Amino acid sequence: MKNKITKIKEQAEQEITEIKDAKQVQDLKVKYLGKKSEFNQILKGLKDLSVEDKKVIGPLANQTKNEIKELLEQKEEVLENAVDAEKEWIDVTAPGKRIKPGKLHPLTLVQNQIEDIFTTMGFEIADGPEVETEFYNFDAINMPDDHPGRDMQDTFWISREEGRKKGTGTVLRTQTSSVQVRYMEKHKPPLRIIVPGRVFRNEATDASHEHTFNQFEALVVDKDVNVANFLNIVETFFTQFFGKKMDIRLRPSYFPFVEPGFEFDISCTNCNGKGCSVCSRTGWIELGGAGMVHQNVFEAAGYKKGEYQGFAWGFGVDRLAMMKYKIDDVRLFYNGDVRFVQQF
Ligand code: DAH
Repeated sequence: MKNKITKIKEQAEQEITEIKDAKQVQDLKVKYLGKKSEFNQILKGLKDLSVEDKKVIGPLANQTKNEIKELLEQKEEVLENAVDAEKEWIDVTAPGKRIKPGKLHPLTLVQNQIEDIFTTMGFEIADGPEVETEFYNFDAINMPDDHPGRDMQDTFWISREEGRKKGTGTVLRTQTSSVQVRYMEKHKPPLRIIVPGRVFRNEATDASHEHTFNQFEALVVDKDVNVANFLNIVETFFTQFFGKKMDIRLRPSYFPFVEPGFEFDISCTNCNGKGCSVCSRTGWIELGGAGMVHQNVFEAAGYKKGEYQGFAWGFGVDRLAMMKYKIDDVRLFYNGDVRFVQQF
């Protein structure tokens, strides 16, 4: 009987060293430790042995069984911790996966650049609400109800009362000029601000018109500022923005919130002023409106008439981005196509 136990043990040890996977461990557990295992037969048969034999065989069988159990458990642990070389293999020479980083929208890029240039020149960045009162969008900047200037801007009305009191309606702001009086009510000169922001006009869209677009307004107010200061600032800005010397041209024009008012053009970025199809052979590109702030606007902000002078301008950021990146349809900015954004 002793021999038999020793034999089983030797055989078990041999088989355990040859184990390759978890399934084989299970099989051997059944074979050596299970109900039908030889050990169990031996233990069951103990009752037929003599008392002396029982004393020897019983403990020996149990001890051997435990040893085999231990060996199997060790093997099991080794297998669990083993690295599967096939699966874990890494080819360090394989090309990496292409990661597509997010991109900033071209309008954001342009706005960031505008803000950088102007903050360097000592301007502050201000903003105001897109849903604006009729008062700040029109009345406060010298465009009362019956003012013909309002006809220039097709307004989205949120609310407009019949027989209303002056300026009590609500609009989607048609221009960032709406922030001028808002800001001046809370700040005293000297002040220099830029106001980038979204504006809205109720008009049909085409390659150069959108109902929603971005403007950028500027306002400089002090005791003694003039058109020459304005020219110098915009020239510096455009030269930095386009990275080459830019010329500015003023043409007399009318805007209710300025007197005198003008439209300003910049030299064509495509032909550098020589004349090409982009600028209709004029060498100039029309960019925005500007002027010396009307004293009525100062009065609306609570300043004493005649005490301060200022200039303001406003132009389309979309236009600028289109020139900079040579984009020929403004609607591309707003259609949400990421393939467009990925190009910048
Ligand atoms: N708000 C005007 C527009 O949207 C642009 C403008 C013209 C702004 C003259 C100004 C200005 O500040 O002085 O058409």
